[in-house]
Amino acid sequence: MEHPIPIDEEYKFDEGLILSSTDANGVITYANRKFCEIAGYPKEELIGQNHNMIRHPDMPKAAFKALWDTLHEGKEWSGIVKNLRKDGRYYWVYSHITPIVEDGQLKGYSAARRPAFSTEVETVIPVYQEMLEKEQSKGV
Ligand SMILES: Cc1cc2nc3c(=O)[nH]c(=O)nc-3n(C[C@H](O)[C@H](O)[C@H](O)COP(=O)(O)O)c2cc1C
Repeated sequence: MEHPIPIDEEYKFDEGLILSSTDANGVITYANRKFCEIAGYPKEELIGQNHNMIRHPDMPKAAFKALWDTLHEGKEWSGIVKNLRKDGRYYWVYSHITPIVEDGQLKGYSAARRPAFSTEVETVIPVYQEMLEKEQSKGV
């Protein structure tokens, strides 16, 4: 699927929980109505896609590596993420992701997100920027 072209405009939302689940490979298997509304996609366009379809290019790769390293250890991960809407605008969330284990078997992952507070966003912007610049200078 084509990624939207990012525009430098924030899409603000101030309430609700964005819920999604994926299989063990990060392919979306469930999206609630709030996810569709905030990401700007109808449900049919989200289900079956890799969760990176809402990845924003301003997010450093190392942030997602940390996320997957944590999940692969069977632990829960939480952090602040900048996401890309279908219309190119961005939105910031505080995200919590949990491995779903049944009978000792990893079934997939489940994520819940709320709007990020502006204080959280202000804290991570310079951190992500520095990580991104390092990655770009190394050609990662
Ligand atoms: C349950 C779950 C939720 C995720 N939510 C997001 C998300 O909101 N935004 C995002 O960019 N990546 C999210 N990811 C991580 C993506 O799977 C992906 O690793 C990331 O977008 C970076 O893309 P890449 O792995 O292709 O480099 C999520 C992963 C899981 C398992």
